[in-house]
Amino acid sequence: MTDIKSTIETFTKLKSGVKRLTLTDFRNYKNMRLQTEICPIILTGENGSGKTNILEAISFLTPGRGLRGAKLSEIKRICSDNEDEMPKLNDWSVAADILHNNEEYTIGTALQHSIKEDLDDEGTRAYDRRIVKINQQKITQQAELGKYISAIWITPQMDRLFLGGTQPRRSFLDRLVYAFDLEHAKRTAAFEHLYRQWTQLIKSGQTDEYWLKSLETDMAASGVAIAAARREQIARLNTFIEQEPDDIFPNVRLELDGIIEKMLDTNPALHVEDFYTAFLAKQRRNLLYNDYIDGINRTDFKVYFKKKNMPAELCSTGEQKALLVSIILAQTQCQILYKGFVPVLLLDEVTTHLDDCKRDALLDKIRALRIQAWITSTEPQNFELLRHDAQFFNLKNGIIF
Ligand SMILES: Nc1ncnc2c1ncn2[C@@H]1O[C@H](COP(=O)(O)OP(=O)(O)OP(=O)(O)O)[C@@H](O)[C@H]1O
Ligand SMILES: [Mg+2]
Repeated sequence: MTDIKSTIETFTKLKSGVKRLTLTDFRNYKNMRLQTEICPIILTGENGSGKTNILEAISFLTPGRGLRGAKLSEIKRICSDNEDEMPKLNDWSVAADILHNNEEYTIGTALQHSIKEDLDDEGTRAYDRRIVKINQQKITQQAELGKYISAIWITPQMDRLFLGGTQPRRSFLDRLVYAFDLEHAKRTAAFEHLYRQWTQLIKSGQTDEYWLKSLETDMAASGVAIAAARREQIARLNTFIEQEPDDIFPNVRLELDGIIEKMLDTNPALHVEDFYTAFLAKQRRNLLYNDYIDGINRTDFKVYFKKKNMPAELCSTGEQKALLVSIILAQTQCQILYKGFVPVLLLDEVTTHLDDCKRDALLDKIRALRIQAWITSTEPQNFELLRHDAQFFNLKNGIIF
């Protein structure tokens, strides 16, 4: 326990986080600059003032589609009627000076909007893509960003994470895995691509055995690697949580409910790969009637309130929020402990549903970890505890005070 604490302290002495942020034509910001310290950063302001937009901008310094999973084009600033100047066609951008273990880097990312001739229908077609530069050098693989900055977020939409369908929980879990294994992002993207191809082929009546078999073999190989990485992450988090105090934030027990992950409990990976390949081949007919076939694309991430042995979906709203916070805090500390990589926390309205005791315990924990945490709220009085330890910004209509 003392060992864990002192290892975490060693790494958080080295600073990681955003030092300067510049947004251009990003959502409601025409041009915004913000200078920040590596400490809790409290953004307050009324509804619609631009708090979440700042968190979203920071999430674009990491691979993927940001904390809202938005379409790249919808982020571009929409001008109000009385504004005559239109933003340049193309592009919103986010630029940041960051620290990664005391080393400085610059990251820039922007929408690139281009119009290309479409040879098939002899017209033109618009293409959007996100370009990324690290220290002014353009990079081709977004996953590279993961070497310089890592962000973990909680958003109000995640208040319903434990209710409803499995897909958001699976994506949440996969993001936790990416932070440890950058290849996981590539594997999940590759699996989805193969799965789409395989589905289209079968539904179009294609019976090319060689082609189908080769897709199934590739899906099974990346599927088993995905399942193994998920299992490893769950084990890492459960082990870490074992030694955490089970007090204000309840300890959680994490489980995977998926056929491939379960098979890996008792079988070597190669056997599971063979099983998965044969299983997919047997499912071809079923795919004609079902949209989804069982496998790693159907796995559920199950969370329990450990002491009560209560599934998260049956816990109260505030308890569910506390369980989510427990997972995020465990993930943060595991990243520091096992990767020496201090993440930035993006906590959007995180205090909603937490009672005063839990809210202060969370703020206290963030302060003790000495990491950069961006926290939004409409209620500035919630942050009295951090009066001397945080940077406070008040937002009004996209202007920061
Ligand atoms: N593409 C865009 N162009 C211009 N404004 C936008 C764009 N997308 C969103 N907005 C606006 O940005 C404003 C700020 O949104 P944001 O979600 O950051 O508010 P917030 O401060 O988090 O509010 P709340 O407290 O309600 O969560 C909103 O009024 C929203 O309509
Ligand atoms: Mg908001």
